[in-house]
Amino acid sequence: MSSKVLLLGGSGSLGLEIAKCLKRVLIPFRAQTSSFDGAEKLQPYTPDIWIVDPVTNPEKIQGITEGITTVISGMGKSVSLFTNSPDTFNEVDHIGNAEVLLDALKNKVSYYIYISIKEAGDNDDYAIPKNHKKFEKKLEESGIPHCILRPVGLFSGLNDLAIMAKRNMIPVIGDGEAKTNSISQTDMAEVVLNTLKNRITGIRIIGGPEIHSRYEMALMIQERFGAKIVKIPSTIANVGAFLPQFFDKNLHDKVGFFKYITTHDMIGEKHGVITFRQYLNSIDENELP
Ligand SMILES: NC(=O)c1ccc[n+]([C@@H]2O[C@H](COP(=O)([O-])OP(=O)(O)OC[C@H]3O[C@@H](n4cnc5c(N)ncnc54)[C@H](OP(=O)(O)O)[C@@H]3O)[C@@H](O)[C@H]2O)c1
Repeated sequence: MSSKVLLLGGSGSLGLEIAKCLKRVLIPFRAQTSSFDGAEKLQPYTPDIWIVDPVTNPEKIQGITEGITTVISGMGKSVSLFTNSPDTFNEVDHIGNAEVLLDALKNKVSYYIYISIKEAGDNDDYAIPKNHKKFEKKLEESGIPHCILRPVGLFSGLNDLAIMAKRNMIPVIGDGEAKTNSISQTDMAEVVLNTLKNRITGIRIIGGPEIHSRYEMALMIQERFGAKIVKIPSTIANVGAFLPQFFDKNLHDKVGFFKYITTHDMIGEKHGVITFRQYLNSIDENELP
């Protein structure tokens, strides 16, 4: 059967879980990645892989939606403090996605699922939600029936705290009382699959099964990896100066948003079954940088 679904950002931590779900339920799909490493990760799940980067080579994505009825996009610049790429959030989250949307319009794609982020729409002060929102707007204007899923946070995004714990520090900004129900990327992929099967439309803010304060989460990380919990006053302007060394030219955007989300409640609709403690126990310390 030929692919009818296009999965953008298929090699990412969420993308790969969506790929596994699609394969499990026998939905053939085309996957996009910008790298050979990404393609290798995707090979067990689909033979139809496009290695193209809509940011640096937008002309090469022409035709990527030919024969496709549904696009699922988990393509976005990594929010991790420990990954580095030269592109900006505007270039990947907004422009890269918009390039594919143009192709989708040309090829009459009839349904779109876009993975955004909780703060999109409410917070233009930070590049991450601001650029997700810019693409959300373009998708709305396109007239293609769509669902925008805004996770409050993925457990994989909290890997940064495990990486810092490996360096003997678990930062808690402010009093640690802000609460969140982050969701595992495995459970989030099931939400995407359910959205696809039921062709749900609109905007949904998605969270996981348990609500914890940031301090409670830091205690769980400490229990799992050891390391010292370090409280950083939220009044300190340059939180980045307190964190272990990390590298990214978009550091300012990432650290500012990290500070924001860890000091404000981030709660979404309750979904999934995997708890944060279970997720921490599944992490192989040796695989953390
Ligand atoms: N992590 C979180 O806590 C969190 C919370 C809420 C929302 N989100 C959003 O959910 C989406 C998926 O998150 P994730 O954690 O799965 O992200 P991820 O692991 O960093 O994966 C992102 C994907 O985007 C692709 N990508 C990155 N830069 C690209 C570029 N220049 N050109 C083309 N493709 C590029 C990557 O593919 P290749 O490297 O193979 O090209 C990768 O597959 C993102 O949009 C993110 O903002 C994440």
